[in-house]
Amino acid sequence: MSRLRLVAGWGASAAILLWAGAAAAQNTADNLPPGPGHDEFLQGCNSCHDLSTVTSRRYTPDAWKAMVDNMVGRGAPLNPDQAAAVTDYLVRNFTAAPEAPIPIAPH
Ligand code: HEC
Repeated sequence: MSRLRLVAGWGASAAILLWAGAAAAQNTADNLPPGPGHDEFLQGCNSCHDLSTVTSRRYTPDAWKAMVDNMVGRGAPLNPDQAAAVTDYLVRNFTAAPEAPIPIAPH
């Protein structure tokens, strides 16, 4: 009986460890590339959706700029300087190949 409980306990721990590992594989505040614009990105782009909604995308520089403008229009708390810093940050770290089509921004 006690042996069975021990096994069940290990199973639960393993499940938690696996879950933590899967969460760590996503782009979270902890594993974003450092650099200028990082803090503004965390501040401005984390409230309505996960950061991975942003970091899973690969856009051209123009499309990133349009996307940040779009999100500021929706209420992202960034002044123009901060928005420019976020745009530069995204362009530096998450740019699409130049030949990729420009995505249509969400309405
Ligand atoms: C006021 C709320 C809000 C804030 C703040 C916000 N977004 Fe969004 N964002 C949305 C909504 C709503 C969507 C569309 C639904 C979804 O994907 O969750 C979206 C979707 C996106 C997408 C996916 C677009 C697609 O085509 O699927 C990207 C990329 C994005 N946001 C980038 C950003 C960036 C960069 C910032 C910071 C400058 C930001 N968001 C801040 C509301 C916000």
